[in-house]
Amino acid sequence: MKILVLHGPNLNLLGTREPEVYGSMTLDDINTKLIELGKELGVELKFVQSNHEGALIDSLHDARTWANGVVFNPGGYTHTSIALRDAISAIQIPVVEVHLSNVYAREEFRHTSMISAACRGKVVGFGWRSYTLGLKALVEILED
Ligand code: DQA
Repeated sequence: MKILVLHGPNLNLLGTREPEVYGSMTLDDINTKLIELGKELGVELKFVQSNHEGALIDSLHDARTWANGVVFNPGGYTHTSIALRDAISAIQIPVVEVHLSNVYAREEFRHTSMISAACRGKVVGFGWRSYTLGLKALVEILED
């Protein structure tokens, strides 16, 4: 089984970016946790981070040709991007939306996700564990 882990804008700055909100782990630390879990689950992971909406869309399109599913943190584009939602709807492989922070305990504008309705499910508010929980759920669903 092959899974794309897709990180959106500003997540490359994790570790130093608002650590009181997003925690002190870097993106590499999170990817390392996912690699460990991936080995346990017997799945192959590919990681992509981009600050550009179009590049994220290209990665989703590309995933259609090789991946069984996607774990996706769209960052701030979550709240604005109809184009990302359309890409998720177009690719017909399950996408799990993840967020480090509990977006519902934050500003009102973060309570709306443009992409949730197109996703298989979502995990929010567990810090880096949102990613590992999301990956576990995705793999279980794919194995069903
Ligand atoms: C985020 C939440 C978004 O609202 C924010 O814009 C981010 C990170 C999270 O993981 O908690 O960049 O997706």
